Amino acid sequence: MAPPFGSASRTVDGPAMTLPLREELRGVPPYGAPQLDVAVALNVNENPYPPGEALVADVAAAVTETTRTLNRYPDREFRVLRSGLADYLGHGVTSDQLWAANGSNEVMLQVLQAFGGPGRVAVSFAPTYSMYPEYARNAMTGWVVGHRESDFSLDLPHALEVIDEHRPSVVLLPSPNNPTGTALPLATVAVVCAAAPGVVVIDEAYAEFRRQGTPSALELLATTPNLAVSRTMSKAFALAGARLGYLAASPEICDALRVVRLPYHLSSVTQAVAAVALGHAKELLASVDTLRAERDDTVSWLRSHGLQVADSDANFCLFGEFEDRHAVWQGLLDRGVLIRETGPDGWLRVSIGTRSEMAAFRSALLEVLEK
Ligand SMILES: Cc1ncc(COP(=O)(O)O)c(C=O)c1O
Repeated sequence: MAPPFGSASRTVDGPAMTLPLREELRGVPPYGAPQLDVAVALNVNENPYPPGEALVADVAAAVTETTRTLNRYPDREFRVLRSGLADYLGHGVTSDQLWAANGSNEVMLQVLQAFGGPGRVAVSFAPTYSMYPEYARNAMTGWVVGHRESDFSLDLPHALEVIDEHRPSVVLLPSPNNPTGTALPLATVAVVCAAAPGVVVIDEAYAEFRRQGTPSALELLATTPNLAVSRTMSKAFALAGARLGYLAASPEICDALRVVRLPYHLSSVTQAVAAVALGHAKELLASVDTLRAERDDTVSWLRSHGLQVADSDANFCLFGEFEDRHAVWQGLLDRGVLIRETGPDGWLRVSIGTRSEMAAFRSALLEVLEK
């Protein structure tokens, strides 16, 4: 019997072999971290602080108002939200340099749909965000992955060699990187953009968590026509459930994304919720400082216990190395703490939670390590 619907091990194979499924999808499980009912969930880099009551009230009012017009399709160009997002980003970004979709996952899939395709290649450098090869596969784009240095910084000469050899139409670089937390220096971004024959996406999903002095690639946007900077409201804005990601790039890149998007892809409800949330940016982003401090404390604590930890500019950190990382992951889970078994072999990633969640993580980890 097939595993239940929603199970990660449920794939299209067995009797379904008669379906004309694309060859590369056979036996492939759907992407996703385990969604388990645990006391302390630190596995998908969410913001642990739920929206405050003022935002809840304003969202509820906006959704009520929007409901009155749900018989109509949404504004295809999401003009109100677009200009709100452009204002939030600053750096001179204008509405026609702004694009949004249902999560930055959808934004980047659209980048692959517009700029990838059969006979073309997308490139990244491992360890990197594990969804990228899936965008490439879904957009029928070749996938080439190079490596990073042992401290997880980008090996620039190697990156330039890969770009020169494969001539990718899309380069995907997270900064801060998931799962390592490593941010890219601006000079590196500039050199990659100059060398790349196509679009370079700097995926800044975790930008708001970066440490003092770490720049955003937005600083290069005005002078770099093939640069696209992707952002999301899922992390710092604590709105993962609303599904709103966005991208700043040249009007030409944004226009290409308008061609491949589905009609009315951004629902009126999503637009209303995100626009209201932008009006509450200050209060939503207030948790960012707390999370950065908690992250720095977590990094120091892990190091003080003899573990290796990658420097992190994000709301998570990667630590190791364990001979049997699965046993450590399982030991934590047995104690009600769910983290993520991802990244290079021997390493684990923990998202930064509330102060009490991190205390629970630390005491569970001590128990596991002392066993
Ligand atoms: C590097 C990176 N980019 C993009 C995303 C996608 O975020 P969303 O689709 O929620 O905007 C994530 C999510 O974890 C991520 O880690």
